[in-house]
Amino acid sequence: MDFKNKMNIWVGEVNKALDAFVPEKSSPEANIYRAMRYSLMAGGKRMRPVLSLAVCELLDGSMEEVMPYACAIEMIHTYSLIHDDLPAMDNDDYRRGRLTSHKVFGEGIAVLAGDALLNHAFETMINYTYSNPGGITAKLKAMSVIATASGANGMIGGQVVDLESEDREIQAEILRYMHRCKTGAMINASVLSAAILCKAEKKDIEALETYSNNIGLAFQIKDDILDIEGNPEKLGKNIGSDIDNKKTTFITLYGMEASKRMLAELTAEAIDAVEARFAEKAGFLKYLAEYLLKREN
Ligand code: IPE
Ligand code: IPE
Ligand code: MG
Ligand code: MG
Ligand code: MG
Repeated sequence: MDFKNKMNIWVGEVNKALDAFVPEKSSPEANIYRAMRYSLMAGGKRMRPVLSLAVCELLDGSMEEVMPYACAIEMIHTYSLIHDDLPAMDNDDYRRGRLTSHKVFGEGIAVLAGDALLNHAFETMINYTYSNPGGITAKLKAMSVIATASGANGMIGGQVVDLESEDREIQAEILRYMHRCKTGAMINASVLSAAILCKAEKKDIEALETYSNNIGLAFQIKDDILDIEGNPEKLGKNIGSDIDNKKTTFITLYGMEASKRMLAELTAEAIDAVEARFAEKAGFLKYLAEYLLKREN
């Protein structure tokens, strides 16, 4: 099967699972479910859960077992986007081709929809683990990896550095730290949690970590590039947000050409690491890294 086909199938499966994990409700608080689904089901790329599924296939694991944790990561990611777009943060009006959550539901509900998605992610993982306790140590470890990656030492920490760096130039080292945390941490968790669930050997984990650390940083460099030269229609969000918010990005610090070079180098390093360990079995991860390099959304 070609990679594009496989990707489409996996995105479809992730969407189906997310739809089931976050159903519509008709209780008095129905609006929170409406708001959660409005952002969650708006059609993001599903890169993080697809990464988990790709690692699962690579390691001959059970897709059924990895799916709840993969979907939880997508819920956490979506919550981070809802909050990232709030007026108190990046103040953006479009996301995933729709008006942002606060534009439609108001700031209060948008904050709560983010909170609820975060909570729901952990409910989803814990409920699955409780009902399927086989291999519980690996499942607990995977949840711990996801919790740490999304917390103050991971994604949230990166967002804090991002906010506090507005309107002033920051050092290259801090910029890398910020990108590795705000974006790299969840990408790393997608790969690592699946590897743990699929009982990867130490050498497998090492290769996969090199891969995910490199594509994680590359992913945010590409995001910074697209904020300048992307097509808003294709992106589903406005460009120019970083300039409006006076952010330091790879482009403000190194320029466009050097940023593109670093993006290509990180992608190549990522591919080398998995090819050296898994040879032709790394085909999908290689395809994915190349797709992320060239992506237009
Ligand atoms: C956007 O993430 C925010 C970053 C972490 C760079 P994605 O580019 O993965 O957004 P979706 O999920 O496809 O909407
Ligand atoms: C967002 O980075 C990272 C997280 C949401 C954790 P950006 O602020 O650059 O993402 P976009 O460009 O709004 O998608
Ligand atoms: Mg931001
Ligand atoms: Mg933003
Ligand atoms: Mg951005």
